[in-house]
Amino acid sequence: MNAAIRAAVRQADALGMDVYGVYRGYQGLVEQDWRPLTSRHCANILQRGGTILNTARCDAWRLPAVRAKAAQDLKDAGVDALVVIGGDGSFTGAEILNREHGIPCAGIPGTIDNDLPGTDRTLGFDTALNTAVQAIDRIRDTASAHERLFLVEVMGRSSGMIAVNTAIACGAEAVLYPEAEEHGYQALVTQLRAGWERGKRSSIVVVAEGDASGGAYKISELLRKDHNLDMRVVVLGHIQRGGSPTAIDRIWGSRWGAEAVKRLAAGETSFYLGSENGELVSRPLARIHDPKPNPPKELAILAGVLAR
Ligand code: F6P
Repeated sequence: MNAAIRAAVRQADALGMDVYGVYRGYQGLVEQDWRPLTSRHCANILQRGGTILNTARCDAWRLPAVRAKAAQDLKDAGVDALVVIGGDGSFTGAEILNREHGIPCAGIPGTIDNDLPGTDRTLGFDTALNTAVQAIDRIRDTASAHERLFLVEVMGRSSGMIAVNTAIACGAEAVLYPEAEEHGYQALVTQLRAGWERGKRSSIVVVAEGDASGGAYKISELLRKDHNLDMRVVVLGHIQRGGSPTAIDRIWGSRWGAEAVKRLAAGETSFYLGSENGELVSRPLARIHDPKPNPPKELAILAGVLAR
């Protein structure tokens, strides 16, 4: 996200515009918590995780009167347009603000879950994926040395994108994720036993936190109760949401930050950016309500085939 902030500020600077940084998202708009953000404020942030602007949930943004007051505050301050970095909730808030009050809004996809319609990638996903893979490579050393079964829970409350891609990249023996058509737990023991019969001595199962079975601890309880299996559980948790971003995330953050400003300067009013087949794309904010993408089924099948 910092790469996107830096690029938006510096592109605006290049076009002769002033920029304000709004702190804590919509909460900052409600409380008028904004300050000038110059190119110099954006020095040395490209390589930092998180966001220099902080973030917050803002339930008050659901109230029309709150949005109307914020829109008036923006107009009074001479603000011409808003760049919003976030996911579907943030984009929905921006779309409504534009529709109700005419403030031009641009969206930059920022969520580690990579589950927004109309874009192959979102900021943070590549970094989170690489963090999960590096962590599991380390767990693999113990799994292998001690000939153990590990259940590793990755983030994804309603998306298996991190889980399925992590499973391929770390050679997991199985993956369980929310969008799977079949209940993963039912097939898991058969899958694991088949591996053991082929001579495997250790196994790693990647579980998305939002899997229908209820997460890695729940599955471990079931496996102990139903099959008397011994295992270890690791929940990777928020380490996936931090750390220095990968080059891919920095490059797309930079491209989207600059593009958002250029399009707003050219008069576009309600859009969000994305990437499709390597190309930078734009679509109306209202299309954030299109069906969200599922992890490619082909990847989940491949994970099973490669676990032989
Ligand atoms: O951004 C989405 C997400 O990363 C989910 O995958 C995860 O469940 C959630 O955020 C965690 O959010 P919180 O920090 O509120 O626990």
